[in-house]
Amino acid sequence: MSRKYTVAIVGATGAVGVEMIKVLERRRFPVGKLVLLASARSVGKTLPFNGELVAVQELTEDSFAGVDIALFSAGGGISQKFAPCAVKAGAVVVDNSSHFRMDPNVPLVVPEINGADVKLHKGIIANPNCTTAITLMALNPLHKAFGVKRVIASSYQAVSGTGAQAIEELRSQVAAITAGKPVEKSVYPHQIAFNVLPHVDSFLNTGYTKEEMKMQNEARRILHLPAFKASVTCVRVPVYRAHSISVNAEFERPVSVEEARKVLSNVAGLKLVDDPANNSYPLPLYVAETDDCQVGRIRIDCALENGLAFWVAGDQLLKGAALNAVQIAELI
Ligand code: A2P
Repeated sequence: MSRKYTVAIVGATGAVGVEMIKVLERRRFPVGKLVLLASARSVGKTLPFNGELVAVQELTEDSFAGVDIALFSAGGGISQKFAPCAVKAGAVVVDNSSHFRMDPNVPLVVPEINGADVKLHKGIIANPNCTTAITLMALNPLHKAFGVKRVIASSYQAVSGTGAQAIEELRSQVAAITAGKPVEKSVYPHQIAFNVLPHVDSFLNTGYTKEEMKMQNEARRILHLPAFKASVTCVRVPVYRAHSISVNAEFERPVSVEEARKVLSNVAGLKLVDDPANNSYPLPLYVAETDDCQVGRIRIDCALENGLAFWVAGDQLLKGAALNAVQIAELI
């Protein structure tokens, strides 16, 4: 009989945690026992897995006895405090927070791009930023063909990237506005319904946000390309699920749309959806809840040398988080 693993999910009740449970089930990950961990607030809740209801337990330092693989998605502070406890107890941690991503001892992995880096782990493997992972699914094949130098990009990020409370904030604001009632806000600094916010994560003194710098910093590690540059504007949009990114990329070598399409039409985890004459291009509404990212609107960039412009979309709760984490667990 093949081996089964005890898998813990930290943040099991959150927007990503719930997807992790579903992805483990859907991909038939060999789970012997599933340990669901969240805050004391969630004790008493149960979540379905493989036809059974699993009780949520309070996360403590002693939660990891007997755990083989721990998938963390409860924020950087929780990862910082509890991932070392999990490693000490003998588990391998796949961490979805940004806490360990730039740690040289922690591989930062998109399995389709640098899956071999998993082997270098010392107990913790980091899952990349969602917008970065989705962008790189399209950029990496183009990089292999043409050699990327730099990108300029703008993201259109769904509220579920902020978590379960933000999904509820958009829903309740839409309901309030359509009922002619006053809008309440607590998650975002401004109304998100019928608005776009050029503000994702906290501001740095350069004027960029932390989220915007993740594309350059994390892509350098994932692509093994220390000179890579990215200037990004991250925007929160009133979309429930799936991020989209408009990318202008400059390459070392001459590019063509035909070659780019050819390269992008044969990539695991990516679909080419590029028939603008028939209004066909990637849309967050249709990419939501699907595993593959989608790329389209491919054209020669008219302002860059050896440049391509394209539009990529992906379900950030899946490829940007839960799916990527479970794919890493499969490599382990
Ligand atoms: P809980 O539901 O008990 O608050 P999201 O990103 O969707 O907001 O989800 C965050 C996840 O992190 C939830 O599962 C949440 O559990 C969990 N979490 C937040 N704070 C803690 C904490 N102090 N200890 C354990 N889990 C936490």
